[in-house]
Amino acid sequence: MSETTLLGMPTVKEGRVPTRTGRTYYLRTYGCQMNDHDSERIAGLLEADGMVPADDPAEADLVVLNTCTIRENADRKLYGYLGSLRRLKRDRPDMRIAVGGCMAQKDRGTIRERADWVDVVFGTHNTHRVVDLLDHADEWGPVTEIWEQTVDPADMASHLPAHRESEHTAWVTITIGCNNSCTFCIVPIVRGPEISRRPGDILREVETLAAEGVVEVTLLGQNVNSYGRDLEQGGHKALFADLLRRVGEVDGIRRVRFTSPHPKDIKEDVMAAMAETDAVCEQLHLPLQAGSDRILAAMHRGYTAERFLRKLEMARSMVPDLSVSTDIIVGFPGEGDDDFERTLEVVAEARFDSAFMFQYSPRPGTPAATMDAQVPAEVVQERFDRLVRLQNAITFERNQERVGRRLEVLVEGPSRRDPSVVTARTRGNRIVHVPGGWPAGTFMDVTVTRAAPHYLEGAPN
Ligand code: 5AD
Ligand code: SF4
Repeated sequence: MSETTLLGMPTVKEGRVPTRTGRTYYLRTYGCQMNDHDSERIAGLLEADGMVPADDPAEADLVVLNTCTIRENADRKLYGYLGSLRRLKRDRPDMRIAVGGCMAQKDRGTIRERADWVDVVFGTHNTHRVVDLLDHADEWGPVTEIWEQTVDPADMASHLPAHRESEHTAWVTITIGCNNSCTFCIVPIVRGPEISRRPGDILREVETLAAEGVVEVTLLGQNVNSYGRDLEQGGHKALFADLLRRVGEVDGIRRVRFTSPHPKDIKEDVMAAMAETDAVCEQLHLPLQAGSDRILAAMHRGYTAERFLRKLEMARSMVPDLSVSTDIIVGFPGEGDDDFERTLEVVAEARFDSAFMFQYSPRPGTPAATMDAQVPAEVVQERFDRLVRLQNAITFERNQERVGRRLEVLVEGPSRRDPSVVTARTRGNRIVHVPGGWPAGTFMDVTVTRAAPHYLEGAPN
């Protein structure tokens, strides 16, 4: 079937008319920003087919679960939830259940074996096929479709309609998959090798978003620094830095973020592009994972703590007022007390603005899952609590350092807890509560009046 592009509209298959008009879907997402972004596309495709979102799975004609498999508890949560959907489906046999995302990709047939009331199982490379697969399930019964690889990387994003969570901010995929081999990580197994989108496709998507009123984009990839290595022809080295500059120049785009760079690969060219491109925000997510060199080597990270700290220093010296967040894993196999103490030292020295902290979770098929000396759960918990206490204190201090400062914020909408204030975000990615009924999408300068452990309060200037 051929495809046509409608002016200013997403590409749709020729001849496709909405067939589910008025029927309702409930979509639940687990996992990372890639998955959030895929969910926006799934929602967009369902809505292009006439469906409308429902607030409650008990009333929805279709429940879609977009799954994650990065840590083990995700598996447990999924099967628990599928159990409750089974009861709903008993009362309403016409209800459809679809499971997509990383766990579907990894577990292949297992989901339908363990939960035969699921109608559609689709992999991470089959997101764009969701409506066809639902059609299949309606006509011929349950279906599983999991491709090993994206068939055409040009289709990764721009072709598909998306239902964006926000009118003013958007994610843009620049690479899918990952060529690294961190020994704890399942992503290379489920998302496959790295494939870059062509710069022209990315820029066209950003321009389209800007024309629709988007003012902030976040470029997404597992390792954004290696962007373009698979496209590179002439030995050109600064592909991501170039892309950042070009995205930053798109008319109407006032903020550009990206996630995530790999500490082993981030170089001065990217920091220079950040410093020199006004739209690129002073925000960096640089995953440390561990502070002990022995553990970093066992993780296959390709840097030492010293080198990580030097890169961080380089980044902070080149981009004034840079906010830095990180990821840290506690309890990797073989982590001894000394190794963990080293993580605490590096965290204290790095003074991250915020951190995502995880307890190590063995993932089937990864090298670390079968390593000796898995750390007992109670030891992991105790270390984890210490790390969280340390980082929370640093996050709070970092927030307090902002009091009295004048910062630009972008309003996201009314605060969920207090409708008399709006939630806004700084360029450094901090949440600021500002009194007033400012509409979403407003840029304003505020003076920070108070710091809380995880947010700021500000007064409009
Ligand atoms: N166990 C715990 N945390 C993990 N992460 C990835 N794999 C695992 C695992 N097996 C964390 C890493 C990564 C983040 C997205 O999730 O810190 O950066
Ligand atoms: Fe994202 Fe990895 Fe989870 Fe997949 S497994 S949703 S890539 S965090």
